[in-house]
Amino acid sequence: MISREQCAARDAADPLARLRSLFAMERADAGGLIYLDGNSLGALPKATPGRLREVAEAEWGEGLIRSWNSAGWISLSQRIADKIAGLIGALPGEVVVADSTSINLYKILHAALAARNINRVGILSERTNFPTDVYIADTLAKQHGLELVLADTAEIADRIDDRVAIVMLTHVNYRTGYMHDMHAITRRARTAGALVVWDLSHSAGAVPVDLHRAEADFAVGCGYKYLNGGPGAPAFAWAHSEHIAWMTDTEWRQPLSGWLGHAAPFAFSSEYQPAWGMARFVCGTPPVLSMAALECGVDTVLAAEAVGGIQAIREKSVALTQLFIDLVEQRCAGHQLTLASPRAAAERGSQVSFAHPTHGYEIMQALIARGVIGDFRAPDILRFGFTPLYTRFTDAWDAVDRLRAVLESGEWRDARFSVRAAVT
Ligand SMILES: Cc1ncc(COP(=O)(O)O)c(C=O)c1O
Repeated sequence: MISREQCAARDAADPLARLRSLFAMERADAGGLIYLDGNSLGALPKATPGRLREVAEAEWGEGLIRSWNSAGWISLSQRIADKIAGLIGALPGEVVVADSTSINLYKILHAALAARNINRVGILSERTNFPTDVYIADTLAKQHGLELVLADTAEIADRIDDRVAIVMLTHVNYRTGYMHDMHAITRRARTAGALVVWDLSHSAGAVPVDLHRAEADFAVGCGYKYLNGGPGAPAFAWAHSEHIAWMTDTEWRQPLSGWLGHAAPFAFSSEYQPAWGMARFVCGTPPVLSMAALECGVDTVLAAEAVGGIQAIREKSVALTQLFIDLVEQRCAGHQLTLASPRAAAERGSQVSFAHPTHGYEIMQALIARGVIGDFRAPDILRFGFTPLYTRFTDAWDAVDRLRAVLESGEWRDARFSVRAAVT
């Protein structure tokens, strides 16, 4: 049996431990709160409130509209995009930061469809992909007279054939944390002549991603999960430079061709001419306050570079998720929790999910009442995210200790825990 002392010793030896001080965790610590939901909303970086105050009071309050130039607001999104590029194996200039993941997916799928082999009939995705991905792909498929084919996780690779135009997958599944082999799937798609679009929402900042080495075509991802950009943070989109080249050569327009994606927005021409490269994926005015917060969040991930970078993050993530699985299975046995995440670390992202056949929601609410924040994904998943920048080994131990208490006492049966909130 793993002891709390052993976990404390692992924290003491952890090269990433000092990065926790980059986050505003004092109140959580004072209240005994354990945060295991950074896969849904990353914690607040300490730098963010001060930076937001500076943007609001100095740049907006004093600089007023001059700040688009004098404070660099107009180039802020590209600066952040180039930082994110370094985390996902992309080159500077290939990433754009704008809008939400859903909207970026719409624009990127549109681009992929423009580049597709016209004899092909389908977009292939995973049945348990995040709903927004499925809805957006379905809309685009219908608009283009194509079929959206949804397959089970284990079948995906075998379903890639010469009828498939685009394979669109989320690298790490939001429910189970299952991580696809990006390189193998992309290779298979390339061999079959299909393009691949990856959703990196649960990968960027959490697991190593090398889009160029994988020879992927397009990607999108979220700014408010492991990139710690704050609620509703802007998202990102990526295209391989080969695709950027044909878009530029053909003056291809993205479907939301707005004024800030124009080659010369301040010419105010009534004729649209797309900006060079990925800049055309911008539609309207960037949300400067949100961008400023996102940059602070991305910088927390970049701060790990001094202590081993994304490889060190991944090593700690694997160690944390393995510890949590082992502890739950040892200490909460007999309470109908079954592991819904892959047992093999190589197939697991930075989260652990357990299924409960009937009362997952109530158990999670009771656990939150005991100060352990995870979340519930219908119909049966208790989900726990591990962010190596601020999650400690002792957090995993304490969380399981409280989960055990919730299960042994049966306190989750209290009627107040079955009241469904709007966000679960
Ligand atoms: C895989 C995936 N894609 C997209 C989204 C959300 O997209 P948006 O930011 O547009 O709401 C999520 C949110 O959890 C997600 O898990």
